Amino acid sequence: MSPTLPAAPPPDIEQRINALLAKMTLDEKLGQMSQATGLAVPLSEQNKEEIRKGRWGSFLNAGGAAERSEAQRIALKESRLGIPLIFGRDVIHGYRTVLPIPLGQAASWDPELVQAGARVAGREAAAAGLHWTFAPMLDITRDPRWGRIAETLGEDPLVTSRLGAAMVRGFQGDKLDAPDSIAACAKHYVGYGAAEGGRDYNTTWIPEIQLREVFLRSFDAARKAGVATFMSAFNNLNGVPTSGNEFTLRQVLRKEWKFDGFVVSDWNSITEMIPHGYAADEKDAAFKGVRAGVDMEMVSTSYHDNLKALLAAGKLDQKLIDDAVRNILRVKFRLGLFDKGVPVAAELPAAPEEAALGVAKRLATESLVLLKNQNATLPLAKSIGKIAVIGPLANSPVDQMGSWVMDGQAPEVRTPLAALRERFGEFRVAWAAGLKTSRDSSHDGFAEAVEAARGADAVLVFLGEEMILSGEAHSRAYLNLPGAQEALVDELAKTGKPVIVVILAGRPLTFQNVAVRASAVLYAWHPGTMGGPAIADVLFGDAVPSGKLTVTFPRTVGQVPIYYAHLNTGRPPSESELGIPAGTPVDPKGFTSKYLDVDFTPEYPFGFGLSYTSFEYTNLAISTPQLRTGTRIEISADVANTGTRDADEIVQLYMHAPAGSVARPVRELKDFRRVHLKAGEKQRVAFLVGAGDIAAYNATLQLVAEPGKYQVWIAPDSVRGAGGEFTVVP
Ligand code: BGC
Repeated sequence: MSPTLPAAPPPDIEQRINALLAKMTLDEKLGQMSQATGLAVPLSEQNKEEIRKGRWGSFLNAGGAAERSEAQRIALKESRLGIPLIFGRDVIHGYRTVLPIPLGQAASWDPELVQAGARVAGREAAAAGLHWTFAPMLDITRDPRWGRIAETLGEDPLVTSRLGAAMVRGFQGDKLDAPDSIAACAKHYVGYGAAEGGRDYNTTWIPEIQLREVFLRSFDAARKAGVATFMSAFNNLNGVPTSGNEFTLRQVLRKEWKFDGFVVSDWNSITEMIPHGYAADEKDAAFKGVRAGVDMEMVSTSYHDNLKALLAAGKLDQKLIDDAVRNILRVKFRLGLFDKGVPVAAELPAAPEEAALGVAKRLATESLVLLKNQNATLPLAKSIGKIAVIGPLANSPVDQMGSWVMDGQAPEVRTPLAALRERFGEFRVAWAAGLKTSRDSSHDGFAEAVEAARGADAVLVFLGEEMILSGEAHSRAYLNLPGAQEALVDELAKTGKPVIVVILAGRPLTFQNVAVRASAVLYAWHPGTMGGPAIADVLFGDAVPSGKLTVTFPRTVGQVPIYYAHLNTGRPPSESELGIPAGTPVDPKGFTSKYLDVDFTPEYPFGFGLSYTSFEYTNLAISTPQLRTGTRIEISADVANTGTRDADEIVQLYMHAPAGSVARPVRELKDFRRVHLKAGEKQRVAFLVGAGDIAAYNATLQLVAEPGKYQVWIAPDSVRGAGGEFTVVP
């Protein structure tokens, strides 16, 4: 027998890139650096000709599967060098099977499930001939006015890091060149969520210590998870737009993090450096974009139109162009686009896969956050007689899908009304919208809604925001329930029937007046295709709510920004100091950091969420009172399910350093775990903590675990928990 020949060594990507680069003309290089929208359906002659000439390296949100397949055939077979296109698309929270908005997914605190959701989305997108999604969105925001809060994973760097990395793994799979993997894109790099006033695209001012501590961490986590690409953002950061920012793009991303994939600009964000007041004209914008390290320009064409002249004039180093092209080709090679051949255009299957719907339903279920449940109103008994379903969001498939949906199919969405009717039959479910939309201010539909409520044993009211009220460029200055929703609840409450409010929204809303009238409040975000059955399961006890907020809910918009990991002041108020203090106005007791007209605390704190059972946290223990560099300590506590239902609990580990070279937030999340506890069961939940978990940026911007005392809590949310302390010694 002849010996088996060793398998051919994997082709060395860098060698292939260099070989290709050596053959490329400047026009072809600039083509790779250009991304366009607008593939005609069917492809136009101009499309075909441009692809043949290598005018574009990428298309975004363009064509159908058939056009993408044909365009790729032309690129591979008819262009001079056969360089494949990379097709990107906004597959943000699902493709055909729509998952809850990211802020809702985050409330699950469940990295495995979030990863499974991204896998579903990635597989569906890959089947449609897509190579690349512009997700995950890793922006941290502490401002619910900002419409794009819907797309974030909340206010916390650790939650965003863990869940963002899970999404990267889900989209990209084990192997980037597998047929069902797509490249992910860490966006929007960086600081975009700190927009002043919560107004989209607005300026951001973020001191470097906060940038590193809060805003960069989730991007670093995505990079460590192997994210293939980054997107530079729209915002001006400390005076320099992020799409021309050498500090964030060259210093941090390339030098410190050694990222070797490519950076795409956001939509027109290169030429938007002109109105920002940073670039004089398109030529200057192109120069500043390339100099900063934005490899591919999305939509605007300043690279194509100006880089040649800049090179000819000796203003730009050819090496910068070559590096950018190398980065782009590297990702195309990693995706296997050079080797996969012409893709077969796939037809959309007649129905979404059951497995995909199953993941969507689990994610929707785990995203639901129970905010109020007076006298255990929920779960409702299945033997209940009649139910009234009311409200503008009970049966609104498009709104239920949320704000970043390009490919979801409204007819496939299962609404709460449909799910409840399926369970209980039309006869037991009376239905009256009461309001046509969330913004409807007419009371014309109230009488019908009140009549339905009068004849029912429980009133389920589906309120909130239509999807059009959140998302990009959809910021709000008020956070209340729009239209006449509050007035509708007032009328329904007068019937004396138990009113259960379910809120579907893209952001934290303020709804105190409704919450006081309701027996129970369930926050459902925009829960996607399977939102209806998930909500029905929770309302009727087939599932126990376990979601917890990853964003602080203010009492009123006037408290914004309000977030749990804030620094203390020199005059923190105490719980007893609400409102205007008694005594003279010069009483120093009253001079604390608070509001006269509203409690200074949030309506619902970060990490909060109720269950159908209750949990008790006791007996915090720390394995050793001292933590030395290079060692770890175990912090543990008893978590007991003291109620009568088996349930999941999201156990959170927080820390605080009371003194150091810089002040630290009053609490910071350091770890979390979802645990399952049977009714009556008690578990010892333990977290291992090393100096690396404690490390923070000091006054000279070094990441260190400063010696000193640390307080620690194992907690159900950011304001309670079993506490203790330990010391870090050098
Ligand atoms: C958004 C990005 C998105 C891009 C492409 C921009 O307006 O900011 O998040 O990926 O458009 O659609």
